[in-house]
Amino acid sequence: MDIWRQANTARGRPPTEQRIARVKDKLVEPDALVLVASVDDEVLGMALAEPGRRQDGHGSRLEELCHISMVFIHPDHWGRRMGLLLLEGISGHANKQGYTHLHVWTGESNDRAQHLYRRAGFTPSGRTRLLDSGEPVLHFVRPAAYPGKINAVLHWPVPLT
Ligand SMILES: CC(C)(COP(=O)(O)OP(=O)(O)OC[C@H]1O[C@@H](n2cnc3c(N)ncnc32)[C@H](O)[C@@H]1OP(=O)(O)O)[C@@H](O)C(=O)NCCC(=O)NCCS
Repeated sequence: MDIWRQANTARGRPPTEQRIARVKDKLVEPDALVLVASVDDEVLGMALAEPGRRQDGHGSRLEELCHISMVFIHPDHWGRRMGLLLLEGISGHANKQGYTHLHVWTGESNDRAQHLYRRAGFTPSGRTRLLDSGEPVLHFVRPAAYPGKINAVLHWPVPLT
């Protein structure tokens, strides 16, 4: 939780207490897909995905859709393709579990995340909406079994410049 808070604070969007409580609930759901990026015992990031639901998450379950709920990396380690590796891990597990598609919403101003999703093979669906906070978010989609080749070489320990 601390790393998530730091990652979002570093991009100027510290999570609210309400959002933190919601994420804690999501993490213990039996269907949650959780991947952690770590080096030795140090956790550096995490991705969380869950079954997609109709009505933008409020309706019944959509068997074929995997909803990526969060991806974050400790700000000291941004740009080392850890985010890409986490997305690749999530996609692989989603594919094995029978999902056919992945989707994610990300901030219109979150250039780094948008770059990451595009690199991981996601494309904008054209849908946009406003979060309760008023922040506009964009919708990205991808087949779970991505046909293209993705360069997920980890830039470690030397950061990209
Ligand atoms: C988004 C996030 C997960 C990316 O993690 P990461 O490990 O740095 O991701 P990667 O290194 O795999 O990819 C980042 C890409 O953005 C590029 N990038 C860096 N700064 C950028 C900027 N200002 N604008 C656009 N792209 C940028 C990097 O060069 C890299 O591209 P490359 O693969 O072509 O070299 C991380 O920045 C983070 O935790 N952000 C805060 C939480 C967040 O916004 N999560 C997404 C919410 S949907």
